[in-house]
Amino acid sequence: MSAETNVTTPPAAAARVQPALPDLKDWRFSVDTEGIAWAVFDREGESANALGRRPLEELMAIVEATEQGARTGRIKGLVLLSGKDRSYIVGADIREFEQFETEAQVIEAIGPVNAMLDRIEKMPVPVVAAIHGACVGGGFELILACHYRIATRDDSTRVGFPEVKLGIFPGFNGTARSIRQAGALAAMQNMLTGSMIRATAARGLGYIDELVAKPTNLRWAARKAVLQRRRALPAKGTKALAAKWPARGFLAGKIRQETAKKAREAHYPAPFRLIDLFEKQGGNYAGLKAAETKAFAPLMVSDTSRNLRRVFRLSEQLKGQAPKGSSFKPTRVHVIGAGTMGADIAGWCVASGMEVTLQDLKPELIENGIKAQAKLFARKFKTKATRDAAKARLIADQAGAGIARADVVIEAIVEKLEVKQALFKELEAKLKPGAVMATNTSSLQIEDIAAPLADPGRLVGIHFFNPVAQMPLVEVIRGRQSRDDEVGKAASFVTAIDKFPLIVKSAPGFLVNRVLAPYMMAAMSRVDKGESKDKIDEAARAFGMPMGPIELADTVGLDVCAHVGRILGLQGDTSKLDAMIAAGKLGKKSGRGFYVWKDGKPEKTAGTWNKSELELLGRDLVAPLVDEAQKALAEGIVESADLVDAGVIFGTGFAPFRGGPLHYKSSRSARAVAAE
Ligand code: NAI
Repeated sequence: MSAETNVTTPPAAAARVQPALPDLKDWRFSVDTEGIAWAVFDREGESANALGRRPLEELMAIVEATEQGARTGRIKGLVLLSGKDRSYIVGADIREFEQFETEAQVIEAIGPVNAMLDRIEKMPVPVVAAIHGACVGGGFELILACHYRIATRDDSTRVGFPEVKLGIFPGFNGTARSIRQAGALAAMQNMLTGSMIRATAARGLGYIDELVAKPTNLRWAARKAVLQRRRALPAKGTKALAAKWPARGFLAGKIRQETAKKAREAHYPAPFRLIDLFEKQGGNYAGLKAAETKAFAPLMVSDTSRNLRRVFRLSEQLKGQAPKGSSFKPTRVHVIGAGTMGADIAGWCVASGMEVTLQDLKPELIENGIKAQAKLFARKFKTKATRDAAKARLIADQAGAGIARADVVIEAIVEKLEVKQALFKELEAKLKPGAVMATNTSSLQIEDIAAPLADPGRLVGIHFFNPVAQMPLVEVIRGRQSRDDEVGKAASFVTAIDKFPLIVKSAPGFLVNRVLAPYMMAAMSRVDKGESKDKIDEAARAFGMPMGPIELADTVGLDVCAHVGRILGLQGDTSKLDAMIAAGKLGKKSGRGFYVWKDGKPEKTAGTWNKSELELLGRDLVAPLVDEAQKALAEGIVESADLVDAGVIFGTGFAPFRGGPLHYKSSRSARAVAAE
């Protein structure tokens, strides 16, 4: 059922709606006998409404028809609705961004859209947006050009500007219009963080004017808004003052400082260009609109934005690893082992709506594991009722009563082959038919664990990363013996808990640890030879890694690093590392490793290093990682180069703006060829 059929047409007009503009493909347009024009966006052949070229052209036809109807008095107002159930408008169509090669092309494409939005704004009759579901990016910019905005209170109804995540900022004059509606402080924050704002909060900020309970109330409320010629008011008082000089200069300076703490300008220029734009033009509505396009165009064609768009496409590819239309719909999970990983896996599954039973050898271990999830639940669930419901879904189960009911059973016990083998032998007979049977092992081979089983084809790996709540990737390990449908179900489960699945062949280190290990080992051996650990870590961060390799080694634990190194058969002198471990210097967890750790943070020595030297060092440091990624591809560890890049970006945080290790390598070689 479409949202449109869900929506009540005002009874007086119901029987007398006249279709207009019958040739539209992506919109439906009709004018009722009260003179209200209804435009329903329902993009043909797509599950969501993106503002691509054709829908924008059709919207232009709707705008023209409304202008004409307003002139003759036939049309009293226009209402914009969505025909999709789950979302309103998901933004501009980013698939079309790739056609732009020059700034001039970008400017040429944006011009008519912005002119159309101006015509909406100047329409002599009210234009009302009636919103249910996500309304983001270009969609948000479109509704900001309307005169009045009504939204459902539903949790799925959110507005936001995710553009910075793609290396750009709003380009359909959303910078000027958001500042006008919400004031500079809130609008700048919203554009710089890209966060999604719930309808109630959006009303408080001034983006939304009226809330209704359900989608079925939207048409009636919109009709009233048109007939009463309601209009949103711009931000007033102190909210409006922030855009005026000298407050604007002060605010720009402050947010520049805050932004610099989170992102480097050299890596992510978009937020900084947005702050510049605001500082120069923020007090002048028309000036800001014009300057926005000029500042937007170079970002759109930059390598950074191209690569961030690539990362977005890669995330979609990862989600596509789960089979389409699968009938496997997991709701119950049983986790065995309530240690570091098991407890957090259980907590994450609960936070994603699953019911979870958690098993360990002793009740206090389970209790500790459950207690440790309070932080996650507090972050994920804002009301006491939802938090309590989450707690009730996480059930201590020392006896393993949940095994027979679970759709997915995940083992996260000690990393010992015989112990895991014995556990699975016992488990196998208890699982219900069709349930997924998985191990979270990080270093054993799936086929070895499965060897004694009656049905070894059933076992797969579901390899989470630490910390579970922060790492978006989960490797789904296909053992030599794993059946395809089991691998597919495991990938479906991973998407059901809002993580990105990457199907990986069972081989030492799988993909992520395999590429990380030589990178970290090489960095550690540089320190052994006397290079500065602080300089090494800074060089890696300057390259774009989220954390330097030495700090990462300390965070993971030096004992774990040595273990992984051994499994992967990494050569080299590890005597210094072994001596540190023997002396109890295990890294963050023991308070001492390469760094001394205080309150969970390493004590660093500030240094001033030459920028180009750091740049060179950064490239040298990641070289072993890039080479290993290439080898993993050649060995068919994952299916394609794109999936290698996706896995490394989402599994290690590898500089997203560089588009992944293999993409980075090939673009460097292409540049070198071009320079010859
Ligand atoms: P941990 O030592 O923190 O927890 C293991 C838990 O399993 C302990 O609470 C222990 O009492 C329990 N346990 C042992 N035998 C059991 C049995 N027969 N039945 C029920 N419970 C049992 O270990 P951690 O770090 O959580 O690792 C668990 C698994 O996850 C290992 O296979 C490890 O390789 C893997 N892994 C670990 C990562 C990490 O960063 N710690 C990352 C990814 C995977």
